[in-house]
Amino acid sequence: MTIIDGKKLSNEIIDSLTNECIELKKIGITPGLAVILVGNNPASATYVNMKEKACKRVGINSFKYHLNEDSTQKELLDLIDRLNKDDKVNGILVQLPLPSHFNTDEVLEFISYKKDVDGFHPYNVGLLSLGLEGFKPCTPYGVMKLLKAYEINPEGMNACVIGRSNIVGKPMSMLLLNSGATVTTCHSKTKNLKEITLQSDLIVVGVGKPNLLTADMVKDGAVVIDVGINRIESGKLVGDADFDGVSKKASFITPVPGGVGPMTIAMLLSNCVEGAKK
Ligand code: GUN
Repeated sequence: MTIIDGKKLSNEIIDSLTNECIELKKIGITPGLAVILVGNNPASATYVNMKEKACKRVGINSFKYHLNEDSTQKELLDLIDRLNKDDKVNGILVQLPLPSHFNTDEVLEFISYKKDVDGFHPYNVGLLSLGLEGFKPCTPYGVMKLLKAYEINPEGMNACVIGRSNIVGKPMSMLLLNSGATVTTCHSKTKNLKEITLQSDLIVVGVGKPNLLTADMVKDGAVVIDVGINRIESGKLVGDADFDGVSKKASFITPVPGGVGPMTIAMLLSNCVEGAKK
């Protein structure tokens, strides 16, 4: 069994992006990422700070905007409009979830698809579903990079994605499908989850429930990618898979923390640098 080291690969990607930023600066280009946080969700604030710090580390200019919890849809759209037109900004990220009075779909569509480093704009979602080049959502994109680094080729595999969110599950299924896997997307309404996971060569789980995936659900030798991040009562961070049990069955498994998490940020930075180069 191999534990997939996302921290190591993300550090390698970050080092290579740092070098790319040095080269870009020589020709007068500094990538810029605008990060918008609305309201006071503590987890969102933590993620935004991590993203800002990571930008500084590689030499991307980061521009942080913090709107009040009670700011309006129009205020947010006006800010995005300015950033869409700002040449110093190559990437725009609105941290989700937004407070409930916002229309998230309208916000995501309002971001220029050329600056949509999260890959959430309908145009980029369309490109992904057509298998064409475009910005890819950072978490599933990071999973694909991890698979590649460990020479795990999804082509021909039975893959099961548990979770159907627009951020992880759906784009993950699409990327695996595009790479030749036979994909089953499972979710809270799926009736025969265990039957499906037991047939799967590759399982990606990302629903936010500790111990959702247990050893009895995993075929011997399966690859298990855990996208969950849950803080349990003891204060410990765990994924959605029971790591101790599942790792006895799996051929490869990602730990939490140190698996997919660090890759998400690395792919965000990579999308920003790609955006600046374009
Ligand atoms: N909230 C949880 N994950 C993400 C993400 O990848 N991007 C944004 N913008 N918000 C998120």
